[in-house]
Amino acid sequence: MVPSLKKEEVTASAPAKVILFGEHFVVYGEPAIVLAIDKRAYTSAQLRKDDRIHINSTNMRVSGTFRKERFQAEKGGSKARVKLEPVKNAVQQVLERAHKKIGVNVQINSEIPVSAGLGSSAAVATSTILAVSHLLGMELPHDQIFRMAYESECLVHGTPSGIDPAIATYGGSLQFQRGKDFLPLNVQANIPLVIGNTRVERSTGELVANVRRIREQYSPIIDPIIKAGGKIALDAVEALKQNELQTVGDLMNINHALLCAVGVSHEALERLVYAARKGGALGAKLTGGGGGGCMIALAEEKKLKHVMNAIERAGGVAFMARKTDEGAQIEP
Ligand code: MEV
Repeated sequence: MVPSLKKEEVTASAPAKVILFGEHFVVYGEPAIVLAIDKRAYTSAQLRKDDRIHINSTNMRVSGTFRKERFQAEKGGSKARVKLEPVKNAVQQVLERAHKKIGVNVQINSEIPVSAGLGSSAAVATSTILAVSHLLGMELPHDQIFRMAYESECLVHGTPSGIDPAIATYGGSLQFQRGKDFLPLNVQANIPLVIGNTRVERSTGELVANVRRIREQYSPIIDPIIKAGGKIALDAVEALKQNELQTVGDLMNINHALLCAVGVSHEALERLVYAARKGGALGAKLTGGGGGGCMIALAEEKKLKHVMNAIERAGGVAFMARKTDEGAQIEP
């Protein structure tokens, strides 16, 4: 059935994420653990009177208009098109599914640092799909939103595992394994985390491609590292269930060392990771794609402030991350 147009403007949001365990190794089918956190991307969608797609992203500082395959940049110069293409893809997927040939204005306001390993692009794609589909009067099921966001994410990251669009869609905490059903993690314990942002921007797609290259060249060495990464994630699930935070911290440290071994750390990340450990963290590791971006530190509640200060003194921007159960949602 072709849905009827309903509202004039719809705003939707989706959360950022931190990967606790298993980034990169998850691309090769190993399990990973991911949490949605209380920073969100917001997308507002409005109908236009013509057939163009206009997108303005406040935090990426780019805007422009797509008309069929042509693009006219307004802000951000020659980089605008590449940055906005995944958002346009998200809009187009919804329009195609609705069999609508209409234009849409998309306004993105996000609290999530860009290119920092916190899932900004997936949260933007997911909130865009939800906003535009509601604007067109469609109620897409979660698994459909996830699949569409995954397709748009392929334009950003090349061969993503799907972990970022999954957590942006469902929220909460998940044990994620490519090609398997996502397992919501039933962890009652609070997981007190500090995030440290190196402010070194990088491309997840390039980092994933580098790991692929190193794996192809040294597979007898790299394959066991990837397997060990998966075992760490499974052991961490048990430690989290038992609320054994020191074990979780130890496993984070080992996981970080494996990520260094596959070449995705960065000197700025190392500085923050070591500062956090010295500042009393139970464990610390990079999170997401690496190569810059963010690290996370696990600490007892009473030490959180101390760890935050240690990260700031080492040159990072530190903040506390709170887990959120709210996945993609329509804003009132
Ligand atoms: C990016 O947040 C996580 C990576 O494992 C890539 C992916 O899983 O798509 C580096």
